[in-house]
Amino acid sequence: MKKQPIYLDRNENHFGPAPACFKALQKKNFFKLSAYSRDFARGVKSRLSERIAHDFGMDEKQVLLGYGGEDILKQAVHCYLKEGQKILIPQFSWWYYKAIADEVGGIKAEYPITEGDFSFYYDIDGMKDAVKKHNPAVILISTPNNPTGNAMGFGALHDFLSHTGDAIVILDEAYTMFFNTDRSYVKALIDEFPNLLIIRTFSKYYALAGVRIGFGFMGKNLSTFSKFSARYLGYNRLTERIALAALDSDDYYNDMRIKMVSDLDMFFKSFNQLPGFKAYRSEANFILVKIPEGIKDAMNAYLKERGYIIKFMNEDGLDQHVRISLGTQEENHMLMNLVNEFVAQHSGK
Ligand SMILES: Cc1ncc(COP(=O)(O)O)c(C=O)c1O
Repeated sequence: MKKQPIYLDRNENHFGPAPACFKALQKKNFFKLSAYSRDFARGVKSRLSERIAHDFGMDEKQVLLGYGGEDILKQAVHCYLKEGQKILIPQFSWWYYKAIADEVGGIKAEYPITEGDFSFYYDIDGMKDAVKKHNPAVILISTPNNPTGNAMGFGALHDFLSHTGDAIVILDEAYTMFFNTDRSYVKALIDEFPNLLIIRTFSKYYALAGVRIGFGFMGKNLSTFSKFSARYLGYNRLTERIALAALDSDDYYNDMRIKMVSDLDMFFKSFNQLPGFKAYRSEANFILVKIPEGIKDAMNAYLKERGYIIKFMNEDGLDQHVRISLGTQEENHMLMNLVNEFVAQHSGK
């Protein structure tokens, strides 16, 4: 059988879910799946939203669940962005943001993400100016941002949120846990900013992308969205169980996180030693790297032939770049060896 390629192109997590997630499935009484959940009888959406509310010190009514962060994001934009209204998105962002805006006929405006010596960063003044100029109905922020990997510190975030007027602000924190496991600021922000929606997911840090569970937190002005996203017949009883097991597995994920942070550093240093390459600091499970002009196709082919798939970027301003999702430690080191080998051979030509 042909060996499967190693996919390091979609920000999946190759460490895999915690062992407790597998056990949760084994223990499941599958007969129960013939019935809807009755969690609603206790006045909550689900035992998972209840647990998340507890962990974040929040009222369960402010927590929502969805079919991945993607689903919550899409629902929120469909709920709040009307045709002809403006949505503000980062200059470099997950392509899907633009696609959802297009679905509802929204007008896309961008705010700057600036390249520094070692990383990209949010230009908070530029962001505030963009809000003044465009007066958007919806603002999207992603921290850490995909694909640039930079995050926004609490102070900068707070400062920006204080200048967003009546806009609905969607804060996409799909990658937050890799560098920041602090939960306390979430409640503080949600309490202070009534138009804020924070989105998280089990796909990345918890390595459960295939399970499709996202969750979010709503500020108190978002009651329309609360109704829009509510599901009368409940959620997925199987996947809720897996997610709960993941939440009980802090030690497993912490150990994984430490290894990932170390490999990000390895990539950062190794790429920056190669002539013509520039790696950017990242706070997520991927790293963006600028590569020398003219090697894209050859590098892609070289890695592909050896079974490694990484993302070669094509968008304006990032078309000489690759985004590498972290794999296991072995995969990461193997990939770096292949890149070194490729560069050595290519520079001899
Ligand atoms: C920035 C960002 N937000 C959200 C998501 C959605 O992930 P999911 O729908 O698996 O929760 C992704 C997926 O790659 C992403 O890159």
